[in-house]
Amino acid sequence: MPYGRDHTNPPVTKSPAWVGAQTEQIFNKSCGDCHSNLTKWPWYSNVAPVSWLVQSDVDEGRSIMNFSEWDKPQPDVDELVEQISEGSMPPSKYTMIHSGTKLSDSEKKTLISGLIATYAADPPGGIKGG
Ligand code: HEC
Repeated sequence: MPYGRDHTNPPVTKSPAWVGAQTEQIFNKSCGDCHSNLTKWPWYSNVAPVSWLVQSDVDEGRSIMNFSEWDKPQPDVDELVEQISEGSMPPSKYTMIHSGTKLSDSEKKTLISGLIATYAADPPGGIKGG
């Protein structure tokens, strides 16, 4: 494959017991490509040197937080709340290209309260320090 690569996703070891169908839906839409093993690779990601959703971003995102490996330590929910409310996540270089992934104010509120409820109801397999 001289001009690109095929992407395979690692298996899901454990998913959180989501509180709220909307929480899961918003997460999958705006965070899931980089923070789960359910990445929907767009066609262009197989074409080098296009770099809007690249393996390295996804690898880095998953290594920090991976909702498909809920049996492993994840960042404290406060960090997620901070990233979402500041508008740092999802990254703007991603939302510019992937229409519909930028969060509206009401989606941010729904996602934040749903994540807090999900962490409380079904905590991950540890909290990462730092
Ligand atoms: C395009 C890929 C991508 C998407 C989409 C994305 N992230 Fe990230 N995320 C990353 C990468 C890469 C890092 C590590 C580098 C950084 O902090 O910028 C990261 C880091 C983080 C961190 C850790 C920040 C820190 O300072 O330790 C949190 C929390 C996080 N993301 C939450 C989210 C949430 C919540 C969403 C959805 C609302 C989301 N991310 C969407 C790629 C992504």
